[in-house]
Amino acid sequence: MKLAVIEGDGIGREVIPAAVKVLDAFGLELEKVPLELGYTRWEKTGTAMSSDDLETIKGCDAVLFGAVTTVPDPSYKSILLTIRKELDLYANIRPIKPLPGITGVTGRSDFDFIIVRENAEGLYSGIEEIGPEFSWTKRIITRKGSERIAEYACKLAKGRKKRLIIVHKSNVLKSDKLFLDICRQTAAARGVEYEDMLVDSMAYSLMMHPERYDIVVTTNLFGDILSDMCAALVGSLGLVPSANIGDKYAFFEPVHGSAPDIAGKGIANPLAAILCVKMLLEWMGEARFQIIDEAIAHVLQQKIITPDLGGTASTMEVGNAVAEYVRKNL
Ligand code: IPM
Ligand code: MG
Repeated sequence: MKLAVIEGDGIGREVIPAAVKVLDAFGLELEKVPLELGYTRWEKTGTAMSSDDLETIKGCDAVLFGAVTTVPDPSYKSILLTIRKELDLYANIRPIKPLPGITGVTGRSDFDFIIVRENAEGLYSGIEEIGPEFSWTKRIITRKGSERIAEYACKLAKGRKKRLIIVHKSNVLKSDKLFLDICRQTAAARGVEYEDMLVDSMAYSLMMHPERYDIVVTTNLFGDILSDMCAALVGSLGLVPSANIGDKYAFFEPVHGSAPDIAGKGIANPLAAILCVKMLLEWMGEARFQIIDEAIAHVLQQKIITPDLGGTASTMEVGNAVAEYVRKNL
């Protein structure tokens, strides 16, 4: 197993080393391939990511990724979107689950659901024309794209409460009718109970009744927006991990960005990055991945927490404390 480790920029350079401590605590046979990509790399070399880097990534099985800062160059293409496309990472999985003792904007902790976001098409097609008077972006929904994300969502649902909610906007976007039909058919064929909801009502319902949901499947942009909103249910963007999964590769990144305003201070919360390690271990088939939840509960209870949660611990202190718990309790 080869893992590309891309810290990226800003707090990516702090949270990933902390998360790697936790990964190392498992003592697995795993070759780590560090790669420097992003803004810092661009400043030094004029390139944020080269085609050689992409080949190196393709030579690995999975990627642990921090965050990159957008490069101020009009010809810059998003590293994240390029990697998703090149590795065909079609499923973006974002678990929305409270951490012990932490509540978000609604003050509740009775929810546990997963956003399954189609990650390769929709409004992220990249097919667009930008002009001073008229600009457009093509929204692509395909049978294949919808089938594979629906299958993925159903597979997850079968391992949980077997309940799927299909989120769309087919009353206005007729292209979503295809997505909705395919998700319904797939769920019926897989024996998964399903419902559907328009994305605007869903946004409201997620805030009012988050406990109702289990697996939420949706198209690319809706998933992007809903997942940031749901981070507010958990407490902050700094607490939510994500996995971008394809048939061959997987890529794990915290939902937060590079946060240049707090970078370099050692105060960034590494919990989202550490939860990415948990998702990586689960993807690898490592049975002991759930000990990370226990370890996080332990450090939260001990108040080994970063300033955003009201503590005084540094990013690395949190990483070390989680790693130590894992090492002792494996
Ligand atoms: C995310 C991000 C990305 C997206 C951006 C940085 C391209 O917001 O992973 O949710 O829109 O998918
Ligand atoms: Mg986003």
